[in-house]
Amino acid sequence: MQKQPPLSSAVSIDGVGVQFRTKRADVTALDNVTVDVREREFVSIVGPSGCGKSTLLKLVAGLVRPTSGSITLRGEPVTSPRSDIGFVFQKAALLEWRTVRRNITLQGEMRRMPKAEIARRTAELIEMTGLAGFEDAMPHELSGGMQQRVSLCRALLHQPPVLLMDEPFGALDALTREQMNSELHRIWQETRTTVLLVTHSVAEAVYLSERVLVMSRRPGRVLEVLPVELPDRNDYSKAMASAEFGARTARIRELLGARTAHD
Ligand SMILES: Nc1ncnc2c1ncn2[C@@H]1O[C@H](COP(=O)(O)OP(=O)(O)O)[C@@H](O)[C@H]1O
Ligand SMILES: [Mg+2]
Repeated sequence: MQKQPPLSSAVSIDGVGVQFRTKRADVTALDNVTVDVREREFVSIVGPSGCGKSTLLKLVAGLVRPTSGSITLRGEPVTSPRSDIGFVFQKAALLEWRTVRRNITLQGEMRRMPKAEIARRTAELIEMTGLAGFEDAMPHELSGGMQQRVSLCRALLHQPPVLLMDEPFGALDALTREQMNSELHRIWQETRTTVLLVTHSVAEAVYLSERVLVMSRRPGRVLEVLPVELPDRNDYSKAMASAEFGARTARIRELLGARTAHD
């Protein structure tokens, strides 16, 4: 097999520190975080609550400015909110008065994309995420998993090269979550977008990611970046039962557990 050419950097986080000033105190949310994410890579971020995971995603989106260091998105310094990203949050945040279809098209309408392109992309995404037949349903008629699919479609409509996800499946039951995990894996392969996923689930991180970034307690630092090579990710049960899966989850739990025990 021919060797793939090296892919270029999608997100570069270089020596980033973030301090928040509040009335009561200054909080150091992140301390000297450096990580490079390649184009098309899937990277998860795990770490204790309050260690700065959401802040890290907001930095990449240009919604928070670093106190020190710099962020580069596809070769350009991030200095203001970026429109060439997709963002999915734990809460689907759909407009209750719009149908599934019109919640998805909203992204294109706000960006003033051509109508025909919005319609074409919306149809493609509805198909890809298994929402066919629900185009005219209202958000309250959908299960939590379906709502997150709509929110994923909306985030992908403009074909963002980088998709940021902040605990997107945190509110779902365990079985729905597993199903969403294998669907997200397939969608990532189809769209070839770079993904940065924040999650509390070590299993989710290992199953989905090519690398997992493990953070320390606040102030968040990078403890370790673990590469993951699972034998057969397209078969969820097989991937989860593999020795590599067991070894990686054990290592991450050790890193997270060891820190909480001593700090
Ligand atoms: N806008 C803000 N102003 C003040 N403090 C903040 C702000 N955003 C986050 N923080 C603080 O920074 C720390 C990291 O927050 P966050 O990134 O949300 O952590 P995580 O997502 O890992 O739980 C927390 O202590 C939080 O209270
Ligand atoms: Mg968070």
